[in-house]
Amino acid sequence: MSAKPDWDAAQYLRFEDERTRPSIDLLARVSLTQPKRCIDLGCGPGNSTELVAARFPDAVTEGLDSSPDMLEKARRRLPGLSFVLGDVNSWSDSTGYDLIFANAVLQWLPDHEGLFPRLARSLKPGGCLAVQMPNNLSEPSHVAMREVAAEGPWAEKLAAAKAERSAIGSFGDYRRWLMEAGCRVDIWQTTYVHALADLGAIAEWFKSTGLKPYLDRLTSEGQQDFVARYLERIAPAYPAESDGKVLLRFPRLFIVATREG
Ligand SMILES: C[S@@+](CC[C@H](N)C(=O)[O-])C[C@H]1O[C@@H](n2cnc3c(N)ncnc32)[C@H](O)[C@@H]1O
Repeated sequence: MSAKPDWDAAQYLRFEDERTRPSIDLLARVSLTQPKRCIDLGCGPGNSTELVAARFPDAVTEGLDSSPDMLEKARRRLPGLSFVLGDVNSWSDSTGYDLIFANAVLQWLPDHEGLFPRLARSLKPGGCLAVQMPNNLSEPSHVAMREVAAEGPWAEKLAAAKAERSAIGSFGDYRRWLMEAGCRVDIWQTTYVHALADLGAIAEWFKSTGLKPYLDRLTSEGQQDFVARYLERIAPAYPAESDGKVLLRFPRLFIVATREG
């Protein structure tokens, strides 16, 4: 079997300001005062790690990611920090972290019922697990991906792509799983409204994330065809505003779980 294609840090960073805002909002709800050990799981190019390190300059902050391309960018951005190649699916820590930060990564992982308690058990007493996940699979942007994949000449080839990201749990699921793991839980959801240049910018936004499992499986000709059909499909849901921009609605789920001392 061929290796899974790597993430593309440059494409991801095309919308860096918009993508970093949820990390800022998430970190604002972490009430730790003097953490000693922090880790940013799925740290990507280091944009979220930079915020954690700036908020807690006296702590040792590390980043972990499964993408060599992302890690290379993160190391260049924050040369004083340690970044390790690893898979959150099999990650745990017996010493215990004060802060486990995971922005925009856990939605790619299966079995949240097993994963969230495992992460909670890797916290020190009083430590925080801070998570943000897109909750956008029912948005037109994502419904259209699945429809185009299922209807095109590539339907068979792309059947497996859909399974790369399954639906996340309900508010009640995360609250229950984390309470059972000994945590106090704060959950909320925010819909960001991003004014993007045009319809094409929506495709550019998702090329490094939601569209990636589909496009990775196609030839460059197939990719162009897929994106053209995708744009046609999403057009009615994202009409141009009076200034020509389109409004991308983006619901995101936030969780801050504190391990009882
Ligand atoms: C959408 S980016 C988020 C980057 C950054 N945390 C941020 O806030 O912008 C998702 C990152 O998760 C990483 N990732 C995906 N699955 C992973 C896994 N199983 N283990 C570790 N990292 C993973 C990807 O390589 C990518 O860098």
